[in-house]
Order: sequence, then C-alpha cells, then structure tokens
Amino acid sequence: MKSKDFFLKPTALFLFATWGFSLNIQAQRQEVQLKDNWKFSHSDNDSQANVDFDDRSWITVSVPHDWAISEPFDKEIDKQIVAIEQNGEKIPTEKTGRSGSLPWIGSGWYRTRFNVPKEYERAILNFDGAMSEPTVYVNGKKAGEWKYGYNTFNIDITPYIYKDGRENTLAVRLENLDQSSRWYPGAGIYRPVTLIMTGETAIEQWGINVNTLSIDKNSKSAIVEFCADVANPKEHKFTVKFEIKQEKNNQTVATVIAPVTKDGKAKCVETLSGIDFWSPEQPYLYELNVSLIEQGENGSEKSIVDCKTIKTGFRTIEVTPEKGFALNGESRKLKGVCLHHDLGMLGAAINKSALAHQLKLLKSMGCDAIRTAHNMPSQWQMQLCDSLGMMVMAESFDEWKYAKCKNGYNRFYTEWGDRDLTNLVLANRLHPSIVMWSIGNEIPEQGMKEGAQMARHMQDVIHRLDRTRPVTAGMDRIDNALSTGYAQVIDIPGMNYRTPKYEMAYEKLGQGFVLGSETASTVSSRGVYKFPVTDEKQKTYEDGQCSSYDRTSCSWSNIPEDDWRLQDDKPWVIGEFVWTGFDYLGEPSPYDEYWPSRSSYFGIFDLAGLPKDRYYLYRSRWNTSEATIHLLPHWTWNGREGEITPVYCYTNYPSAELFVNGKSQGRISKNPSQLNDRYRLRWNNVKYEPGELHVVVYDGQGKVAGEQTIKTAGKPDHIELVADRGTENGSTSYANMRPTDNPAFFALNEPLKADGEDMAFIAVRIVDKEGNPCPEASNQLSFSVSGAGIFKGVCNGDATSLEGFTHPTMKAFNGELVVGVQTKKTPGDITVKVNGKGLKSATIKLKSQN
Ligand code: GAL
Repeated sequence: MKSKDFFLKPTALFLFATWGFSLNIQAQRQEVQLKDNWKFSHSDNDSQANVDFDDRSWITVSVPHDWAISEPFDKEIDKQIVAIEQNGEKIPTEKTGRSGSLPWIGSGWYRTRFNVPKEYERAILNFDGAMSEPTVYVNGKKAGEWKYGYNTFNIDITPYIYKDGRENTLAVRLENLDQSSRWYPGAGIYRPVTLIMTGETAIEQWGINVNTLSIDKNSKSAIVEFCADVANPKEHKFTVKFEIKQEKNNQTVATVIAPVTKDGKAKCVETLSGIDFWSPEQPYLYELNVSLIEQGENGSEKSIVDCKTIKTGFRTIEVTPEKGFALNGESRKLKGVCLHHDLGMLGAAINKSALAHQLKLLKSMGCDAIRTAHNMPSQWQMQLCDSLGMMVMAESFDEWKYAKCKNGYNRFYTEWGDRDLTNLVLANRLHPSIVMWSIGNEIPEQGMKEGAQMARHMQDVIHRLDRTRPVTAGMDRIDNALSTGYAQVIDIPGMNYRTPKYEMAYEKLGQGFVLGSETASTVSSRGVYKFPVTDEKQKTYEDGQCSSYDRTSCSWSNIPEDDWRLQDDKPWVIGEFVWTGFDYLGEPSPYDEYWPSRSSYFGIFDLAGLPKDRYYLYRSRWNTSEATIHLLPHWTWNGREGEITPVYCYTNYPSAELFVNGKSQGRISKNPSQLNDRYRLRWNNVKYEPGELHVVVYDGQGKVAGEQTIKTAGKPDHIELVADRGTENGSTSYANMRPTDNPAFFALNEPLKADGEDMAFIAVRIVDKEGNPCPEASNQLSFSVSGAGIFKGVCNGDATSLEGFTHPTMKAFNGELVVGVQTKKTPGDITVKVNGKGLKSATIKLKSQN
C-alpha cells in the first residue's frame, strides 16, 4: 500500500528525494563538505600521513585555501629566464611577475579527520581541484593521487576507512614545481573537498546523465534521455526512478522509470511537456530526484537503496553553416569573455559569492558566455552559470605533450590526458550552461605532424562521453594548423587573435564557421590615460601602467573593433571570447620584464573587480536591453590646461554632442566606414580646461536620449562606500542601473548569509567636498570590520602594487579600491569602517542572516 509522500530531513548538507514511506529505506547517502579544522604545514615528511602524527603545531585553516595569497610578493619567486614562443620571442629574457610573484612553489600538507558512520559501506572523497599533484592518504595509507591541479577527481577510500565508525585521518600532500605555469596557479586545496557516503550498491558518483535530444518550442516539449550508472548492482533487480520537478515551484513535471541492466546501466527516453528551456536570459532549472529502487517479487518496489537530487536544465545546441551557433534553435553570436580561475584578493581559493559577483558584473555588461581559460572549471562556478544564466566553454589544457612551460602539464599528458578529459566531461555534463568543450589552448601540436590525430583522439574521447556538445580548440597558428589538418578536425574551429587570417581560414576550413575563441587582448590600467593618444602595440611607460583610451594591444593582439567588424560583416563568425573579463594574477604583458608588475592588464574589469572604461565599450554593444553612456577620460588634469585631451563617449546611441564648460565641441556620429569611429564617438582635439565635461546623446531619430556630466575634482575630502550586497536599500537587479552607472558602485538588495563563507564586496572611492570622485587620489586607507563579519581582503587593481591582499590597509589606486568582507556563522550587524589620512572616515553597515 502506498502512502502519501513525505520529506526526510537531510542528516548532512544535501537533499534527499521524496518517496513513499512504505518502502524500506536503506542507509541514505550523505555528502559532507570537509570545510573547517584542517591543519596545514609546509614541512614535508612521509610520516605526516600517519594517524598518530602530531599536527597540533600546524596552522588551522579552512578549505578552500590558497597557501600563497596572504604572503608578500617577491621578485625572485619563479623568476623565469625564458623566451615566450607564443609571443613571438626568440631570445630568453628575465620574466619576473609571470606567475604572480607569490610563494606558490614548494610542497604543502593538509590533514583533517572525519567519521564514516557504521551503516555506510562505501566512501568516496571528491576533490574539486588541489594545486597540485595531490597524493591522498587515509589512515596512514596511500589511497590515491592525481596530477593535474585543475581537475576534479574521486578517490574511493572504502578500503582504507575504519568500519567501526571510528574517526579517520586524511592527509594530502601537494607539490608545485617552478616553471610549471604561465600565470598564478594558486597553491593548496583551493576548491572544496566532499566526503560521499553510500551503501555498497549506489548511484555512481557522476553516474547521472540527462541529454536534451530535441525540443519543440510551439508545444514546449522536449525529448530527453535520462541515464544512470549503478555501482555494484550484484544479482539484485533494480530500477531507477527519475522525478523531474520545476525548481521555481516544486511541481512535478514527469516521473520516469528505467530498469537497471546487469552491468548497472539504466537508460530511457521520455517526451516532457510544458518545459521552459534554459537560456542565459531565462535560466530555467529543474530538480531531478533520482532514486535507485530494489525490486521485490512481481516487480513490486522493495526498498530505496540510494537517492540523489541534482539540478539540470533542458536546451539544445547546434552549430551549423546555416545557423552558426544556435541555442534552442535560435542563432546567436557568443558575447563571451575568457576568465582565469583566480579571484584577485582571494587568490585561487574559491568562494561562491566572489564567483557570483563576477558573473553578475559580466551579465550587467550583456556578456552571455565565459571560457574557463585554460583549464577545468570548478563545480561551484558551473552551478552559478546554470542558475544565473551564463553559457560556458569548458576548457581543459594549455599544453599537451609539447612543453610551453618546462614543468607544465606536458609531464603528465601521455599517461593522464584521457583521464583528465574523462573527468572534465563526467563531472560537468549535467550543467546546461556548458555549450562546448575545449580540448586545448594554443597547443603547440597544432603545427605538428601528429597534431591532427591527437586532436581527433581527444575529440572522440569527449564525444563518447557526451554526444550533445561540440568540441573546440583555440588556435593561434592557423596556417600551421591548416597544413597539419588539426584545424579541420575540430567541430568548432577557434581562432585566437589573427583577425587578418579569419577569411582565409574560413575558406580553407570545411566546417562553415569560425569562432573567435580568444579575442582582443587590449591592455589598460583603470583610470590611467596617456598622451598623446595614439594606436600602439606593446607600449610601455615608466610607471608600469597602460593607457585606458583602449587603443593599445600586444604584438599578437588587437582592439575590440577589429573583432566586431568581423562579427558584423561576416555571418560565419559565430562570436567571441574576449581576453579577459577580469585581470588575473601573473602574465603582466606588456610588462613581462618589468618589476613590480605582477598581474595582467587585459581585463575589462581590473583585479579588484572595478570596471575599466572598456566595460562600457563592450556594454554599449552587448547589452541590447539597457542604455550605456560613458565619457572618458576623467576631467581632473591639473597642469594640462590648454593641451589636447581627446574625449571618447562609449554609448549604444549613434550620435552625441560634447561640451566643455558649455562650449560645444561638435555633434558627431558613428561612422560605419571608418573602423575607429564605427563603434565609439571620439572628439580628438578637445583642449583641457578645468570645469565641466558634458555630453548629450541622440537616438537614431535625432531625439535626445540621455546625458552625462563629469566635473574637475577638488581636493580629496571624504570616502564613499557602496556594498554590492547586504544593505537594505539596494536595487533588485543590475538591470536597474542608469546608463552612466558604475556597476561596482551599485548595491543589490540581496541578503548576506551568516554561514562563514558569504562575502560582500565594498567599493571604496575618495571624493571631494561636493562628492566628485578624485580620479588620481592615492591615499593610504585602512579598514576595520566589527560585528558579525571579518575583513577578508582588499585589492586596488594596481598591477604594480606590492601591498598584501590580506592586510587591512592599502593605497587607493586612482581614487578607488574594493574591500572583501566575509560573514561569521552567527547572524547580525556588520560594521565596516574605512579611514584615510587627511580624509573624513566612512562607515557602512551590513546585515547577515540565517
Ligand atoms: C594568448 C593565450 C592566453 C594569454 C593571451 C595574452 O595567446 O592563449 O593564455 O597568454 O595570449 O594575450
């Protein structure tokens, strides 16, 4: 007899499904994140794996953790005397900040303890990434290892755990070699570790798969394949029940049951109706409760053996010569950015709210896709891309067998390449946000005889595990890649830069389309403007900064217009991934040889998450639902009186008139026949005089559509603070920003969770008496956080700053910086105070809730 459904209370972190209580419920799976109370040390000795090793003198940390981010910068760390072949260099020179100049090299050990209650017969540890070469010991015995620091992996620790429920000891050894990275990789267990406990027979870790085979928009229906793999099915008879519920209202859409074969496979195809399809604009998600049910006599349901709840979405992807890239049957050009994995002030230690903050800022620009350059994404990031609506190119490698860095992944490729790809796909294939896989970035083998065959092999590995998504690769040597056949093999040929070669490549390639897998690499420093304004390659200055007029790129790269021209004029260009969304630690081109540069200049946002001018340029093109009006440069140029100071306006509107202290500088329009004036409005001969810069923009009908005024600032007087979340008067969405608003100084009405992890990012700016931003202020500021939160870090976006990220003091860089505040586990008020010498201090109050 069946009774009404009820909900079992989860004993740990994760949800259980709903089932009839007449069934015998066996030990239910528990998934527990091992977060707090880890011990960490740099000492390196095999005995540190032992159960009785005394680790009391080690420091206590929580995981995710980056052991290098709180340490001082040092020029000598990983100083590489190399020629960067990819940048066209032939002669080795000294590269100082290449991998960030923080002490990430060397070994590190982590230890913690955990229990597996007696009723569980199987235990798996999932590492979402550990930097790098992790060796995992349980109760003194080696339980497993992985090599690549960026990948997620599982270790079945069942043979090593105590079966009587006693406490187990986990030890993890990591090691990072010098010259193993072209950027800051971070160090330590920088992504979550989860302990998964089940009965002996269980749904396999990563064993669930859901494929949208086709959709019909008119009837809102989808043909969907549901699959599950079962571990240790033994001789019993099982079925798997998939219950699909709408995330928004918990309504059951369908229940699908599939028998389990002897080798543990369950599969069925079902037509679902009334489905809302996933897209970046409307990221509809569904909850999938998957139950493994043992069959009794006569096909009755005897017991629920395992049960797991996941989230997924339904959508289709096609890439064809006719449609280009199409999501749910609709063609669209990808408006993407490349992202490195580090989170500025947090280093590589991953944090959900920091990731969400990045994604929301990108969405406010109209960005709809990210590329996880050049390695496997974290699960948290993919979950956020699913729920916030961001398409993803999930990448794997920066090198295969042939080295870009002496001690890079080339050491592991032959033995581990297929295993790494397999984990990438299995761990991530349920994410509707992922629209393509990438087998590699600028892989040197693209130009080698064996390259095509290697690429085909890797693409096949992926296709065998996931037949619904195409595979891409970023190519920077397109002539070579065409001549070896590498370029022709890849489902989606990806071009990195080389805009003059697009046309030739398209004609020679058979695929019928080309993706800008990596574009632009325009360089700039937030708030820095250099004169005279000229188009430059690799331009460097004594101060280690780049100009924000957005006319400077590297020898191999270009400015945004060069990509846009192709996307607008060539239907076969299916979109782009701009290098990069945010600045990242390491790779300080064009200052690879200049100390103290230690982070990149490529970002649309700086390392602190503050927008550079380029944010507004991309927004003016990408964000088609909200207007953009943005003037540059700032208008505080003591000493430039009477000098030519060009003014640009980044706007979606076609024309505008500029005024300096009320005097018109002319009304101008975008000019489609001049690339430099096709996408931005430029007044190149404006003479600076202090006062007021004012622009009035006009729409296509010649009607006034908006305006912006910026004023010459007086002396720094006080400090303004805006928190992205946790205050009461925030807005519901970035879509409510005014056309001239700065997204970093925009508050969302989102509560902070009192969970010891959630973070608010407080944008800080120095202003004059009237509240005008002081664009050159560099006052030393200090921060104190009291109440229900802690000071977590600070960053000013200056690529040459050697001030530590985790000390509560830093200079403002061009008037601004960002402070990260983390909640404690008890709810309450959080008070953040910022002081600066010669400035009136400022306080902001946040609230955290349960
Ligand atoms: C590309 C490369 C990126 C980064 C970029 C800088 O060629 O794929 O990783 O190095 O250049 O412009």
